[in-house]
Amino acid sequence: MTDSRIHAPTDSAIQRAAELLAGGELIGMPTETVYGLAANAWNERAVARIFEVKQRPPSNPLIVHLPTVERLMEVSGELTTTQQEQLGALQDLWPGPFTVVLPKSDRIPSIVSAGRATVAVRIPRHPVALRLLEACRFPLAAPSANPSKYVSPTTAYHVAQSLPQGVPMILDGGECQYGLESTIVNLCETPARLLRPGSITAETIASRLNMSVDELCRASSETSATLIAPGMMREHYAPRTPLRFIDELDEALLPQRIGRLAFHPLQPNEVSKYAHVELLSQSGSLDDVATQLFAALRRLDEQNFDMIVVDRCEPTHLGRAVMDRLQRARAASNSKTPPSP
Ligand code: TXA
Ligand code: MG
Repeated sequence: MTDSRIHAPTDSAIQRAAELLAGGELIGMPTETVYGLAANAWNERAVARIFEVKQRPPSNPLIVHLPTVERLMEVSGELTTTQQEQLGALQDLWPGPFTVVLPKSDRIPSIVSAGRATVAVRIPRHPVALRLLEACRFPLAAPSANPSKYVSPTTAYHVAQSLPQGVPMILDGGECQYGLESTIVNLCETPARLLRPGSITAETIASRLNMSVDELCRASSETSATLIAPGMMREHYAPRTPLRFIDELDEALLPQRIGRLAFHPLQPNEVSKYAHVELLSQSGSLDDVATQLFAALRRLDEQNFDMIVVDRCEPTHLGRAVMDRLQRARAASNSKTPPSP
């Protein structure tokens, strides 16, 4: 299926997207993690449209994107000596799938940060995102381009499909390389804390910051009412179809139509149990699993199966991010009616 809002990233399309953004419109922007829904971060009304189009709760702050670290002071306020040192130890992870929470500049409207004194900043690596950011004289506020709580988009078509209104143009940057949202680290807490695991692993960040992984990944004492990263709500990234882990599968349910998300090839007698199998990796590589996960979840979700059943992996390194997204999808399924045997 095609959608006339999707455009190849030619120079003229990038220029047109930058003009639309300057005029307060929203643009579907590819990044190496997931597609974003971008607006001029200086423009309060444009940012308000992001919240409307996504039906995002106004309490959930947005990430602001820049093309280079030299422009950091456009979005961040004054950094403490410790924050400067921490940023110094981390900033070569940019451009890349990595976001830091820093003190916010007054130039960033409060709506972007949902009233907080902090701002989340990222320099993406996708060449189309960088060309678009360079073509704009302003930073871009961009959450993932999905309706609030649904699975993030990893292709231009996913954006078109799930946001039929309010997005005049979507730049097509192909399939996202990493497929999971960026790693987020909060440098406004002491010690620093991981808010969202991603492809830049907690192990990498902890070693750069000279701290233990346990300390970096410590649980937040915040409740859902005061959440520091509301996107970290337990129920998030959820397909409509109930999702369960493979070790939770009751064999009595097998006559039902079950979609299977497999991290590695299955034996033929296993395959035959399911209505459909989405194989995420031929070799069992977690990189492949992460890249393919959301697209495969969407494909299974479209087929109205009674249930989706998925593998588990070790929750360390990249597996920490994969299990994080799956556990949230699993938690959201809890509140739906499970299929009866
Ligand atoms: O990979 C990504 O980060 C993608 C691409 C488009 O860059 N963006 C993305 O944005 O995933 P979003 O809005 O779906 O997730 C942003 C997360 C949310 O969990 C939000 O609560 C958190 O970042 N966040 C944003 N600003 C924050 C802040 N000032 N303090 C704490 N958390 C913040
Ligand atoms: Mg999101």
